[in-house]
Amino acid sequence: MKLSVSLFVFALLVPFLLATSAYTHENFLQCLILHSRNDSISKVIYTPSNSLYSSVLKSSIRNTRFSTPSTPKPQVIVTPLGVSQIQETLSCSQKHGMQVRVRSGGHDYEGLSYVSRVPFVILDMINLRNISVDVENSFAWVQSGATLGELYYEIAEQSKTLGFPAGVCTTIGAGGHFSGGGYGTMLRKYGLAADNVIDAHLIDVKGRFLDRKSMGEDLFWAVRGGGGASFGVIVAWKIKLVSVPSTVTVFTVNKNLEQNATKILHRWQYIADKFDTDLFIRVILTGVSSSQKGNRTVQASFNSLYLGGKDKLLPLMQESFPELGLVSEDCKEMSWIQSILYFAGFPSGQSLDVLLNRTLTVISYKAKSDYVKNPIPESGLEGIWQRFYEKEAESAVLILNPYGGKMSEISESTIPFPHRAGNIYKIQYLVYWSEEGTAATESRVSWIRRLYAYMAPYVSKSPREAYINYRDLDIDLRKGPTVWSKSRGKGRRFGADLEEGLGLDPGLRSSLRPGLDLGLRSGLGLRLGHNGACRSRPSSRSWPQWSSPISATVLGVGLLD
Ligand SMILES: *[C@@H]1O[C@H](CO)[C@@H](O)[C@H](O)[C@H]1NC(C)=O
Ligand SMILES: *[C@@H]1O[C@H](CO)[C@@H](O)[C@H](O)[C@H]1NC(C)=O
Ligand SMILES: *[C@@H]1O[C@H](CO)[C@@H](O)[C@H](O)[C@H]1NC(C)=O
Ligand SMILES: *[C@@H]1O[C@H](CO)[C@@H](O)[C@H](O)[C@H]1NC(C)=O
Ligand SMILES: *[C@@H]1O[C@H](CO)[C@@H](O)[C@H](O)[C@H]1NC(C)=O
Repeated sequence: MKLSVSLFVFALLVPFLLATSAYTHENFLQCLILHSRNDSISKVIYTPSNSLYSSVLKSSIRNTRFSTPSTPKPQVIVTPLGVSQIQETLSCSQKHGMQVRVRSGGHDYEGLSYVSRVPFVILDMINLRNISVDVENSFAWVQSGATLGELYYEIAEQSKTLGFPAGVCTTIGAGGHFSGGGYGTMLRKYGLAADNVIDAHLIDVKGRFLDRKSMGEDLFWAVRGGGGASFGVIVAWKIKLVSVPSTVTVFTVNKNLEQNATKILHRWQYIADKFDTDLFIRVILTGVSSSQKGNRTVQASFNSLYLGGKDKLLPLMQESFPELGLVSEDCKEMSWIQSILYFAGFPSGQSLDVLLNRTLTVISYKAKSDYVKNPIPESGLEGIWQRFYEKEAESAVLILNPYGGKMSEISESTIPFPHRAGNIYKIQYLVYWSEEGTAATESRVSWIRRLYAYMAPYVSKSPREAYINYRDLDIDLRKGPTVWSKSRGKGRRFGADLEEGLGLDPGLRSSLRPGLDLGLRSGLGLRLGHNGACRSRPSSRSWPQWSSPISATVLGVGLLD
């Protein structure tokens, strides 16, 4: 009775408030409460007047670049407890013109899972993080709000010989990570996380709860690498677990420029993708102080996982990569789950409970990515070192991740992730800073853009490829990216025909449309092509001014590594 009275009052106010977002969001809230089958949804709705709003919003913001007073905030945050609350949120958002952003772990590099310039609601998947492992049949169901740390922990609780080939950073949410590909230290042996997804639960724009069978193979293809939030809300993934040996070996060997880092890294490029698939050696480049006072040098950390014991690793390294000079003392044998802690940067001896810690390390950063198909000559590497000596690069990191192995065996169109045979490694460029303010941001963003421009001759061309999960709004999608569709192959331009080809509902165009754009443009358009140099815009720091109209309205789920 009370409800109908307030609705009546609302109806009277309609003509006056129609154009305001306050109206939109009030109406949206009314809709949610009216449509929910019981009032439990009111317990998972946060508006700015709720004292918990700010902490819920910040709980998974990792990049302080998108947590400033001027960052656009959601009108409403919903933390659904189940499928019906997601359905209600989608239905009401369409009726009342609210855009939906879906957030699992909050790692989105450009904050797209929790920032929009139009009135929006965040569907925060934090409460949907069940994981059930079936050891006997080697699979697991993982809900999209679970972190990789929670997933690894649960697998290790159940089995010492099963693992999963996903990312290194344990606070990443499974929802966004798998939907963009997702990789980690076992990609050479087992491919991407998305390569090992065997079913999914998705809610489409009409609120239909779909699994692999009911969504059909085209849509199931698209969500494994095309950006899950582009096609609906992923509730859970069914993943195939992989076997891991009871003993693995890790090492990190550091070489700076005075220790022949340039030559050793140059050599690494010729073998990193050809090693035994049990061997993964990535390289982390940082600027460090040199032993010569007042000088800087570059350190190359050769950071490795070997799926076996060191008795086998040492002869393998002696044969294939003697230049690194690996000795027995460099190697640590451990269980696979301990290697997860090692790569995530936890000190040795930590309890596995740290995997369940969802608290993010908060900092400002900007990232970009490139694919390398031909070894970079030493002179090219030396140009990178020069850029590391610039003061903006104090906290810069380049991570070189080798491909080859399983990555080369899977065809470019098996799933939307196209970076397969022919890639030696991927570069992730990262620059971090902790000072606040526009000047600090601009100088770092400008540095990483200069480095990216410098790299152009040495990396993939026509198109210059990038990894969708390393979101980068500098990439100008309006320039006609190369689109890759399952049925039609490479080279299609983005367009309505492609949407229809996927059998997507035109209804998606109302609430999920903006996300669909990105999914098609950069996900299905697997190759984020921009011909020639990337169009340079002013620093992406201050969100409202600088983001491109297209990409700023993208739906995203947190992701990463
Ligand atoms: C209310 O809704 C929640 C979430 O949809 C559900 O878990 C719960 O069982 C419902 N309660 C009743 C009494 O229907
Ligand atoms: C999560 O798992 C628990 C325990 O198995 C179960 O009671 C609950 O319904 C599950 N929640 C969802 C949203 O699947
Ligand atoms: C660097 O490499 C050269 C040969 O290429 C070798 O003679 C020299 O000992 C190496 N230096 C170090 C510090 O490893
Ligand atoms: C500083 O290091 C660079 C790179 O190793 C070297 O070229 C330069 O000569 C060094 N400068 C001084 C003053 O030692
Ligand atoms: C959880 O992680 C945060 C961020 O790294 C850290 O500050 C905190 O101490 C951790 N908590 C526990 C209980 O380990």
